[in-house]
Amino acid sequence: MAGPSIFHTEKVCVYYRPDKPSLVETSLIFPKNQIAALIGPSGSGKSTYLRCLNRMNDEVAKVTGKIIYDDVDINTATTNVYRVRQKIGMAFQHPNPFARSIRENLLLAPKQYGMKDKQEMDSTVERVLKDVALWDEVKDDLDKSALALSGGQQQRLCIARTLAVDPDILLLDEPA
Ligand SMILES: Nc1ncnc2c1ncn2[C@@H]1O[C@H](COP(=O)(O)OP(=O)(O)OP(=O)(O)O)[C@@H](O)[C@H]1O
Ligand SMILES: [Mg+2]
Repeated sequence: MAGPSIFHTEKVCVYYRPDKPSLVETSLIFPKNQIAALIGPSGSGKSTYLRCLNRMNDEVAKVTGKIIYDDVDINTATTNVYRVRQKIGMAFQHPNPFARSIRENLLLAPKQYGMKDKQEMDSTVERVLKDVALWDEVKDDLDKSALALSGGQQQRLCIARTLAVDPDILLLDEPA
């Protein structure tokens, strides 16, 4: 591996049912500032593994093993999962915008994390929409429902939504 790692897992197992793991002892290392791709057959556990990396399996499965992000194991009972999900954003295969306006989709999380300044909100909306090449299409419709967008536009909005809280890492589960 070239350069330092930002993330690695040690023997991660995922149990959707107690008797049989759906993912077995998966240990991988991800270098900093690089794009890594997970490739494997349908049903092999790519999404399952990816969801472990920001604790999205918490409600549905037992996850054992270590998930080391920035030198800290985030697979522990005392981990602040909200902080983890701020730093490690995710977009899913199917877009899942909130039934709110485009602007609200983008500002819900930043407001949760303390953003109050109107100008900062406006510039965040513009920045992340430009990042996903959606700004020109929606800049006059920011207060319209996100559900009125096309599927591809919704997906770009969902990626922009993750960018709005300045994540270190983006987990992309076949989002295109
Ligand atoms: N919520 C769940 N509850 C129970 N079993 C699940 C759940 N999600 C996934 N599985 C099982 O875990 C295994 C891995 O599924 P996963 O969705 O991670 O595969 P994948 O590699 O992402 O496949 P694909 O390429 O089709 O998206 C499969 O056997 C699947 O049935
Ligand atoms: Mg999958």
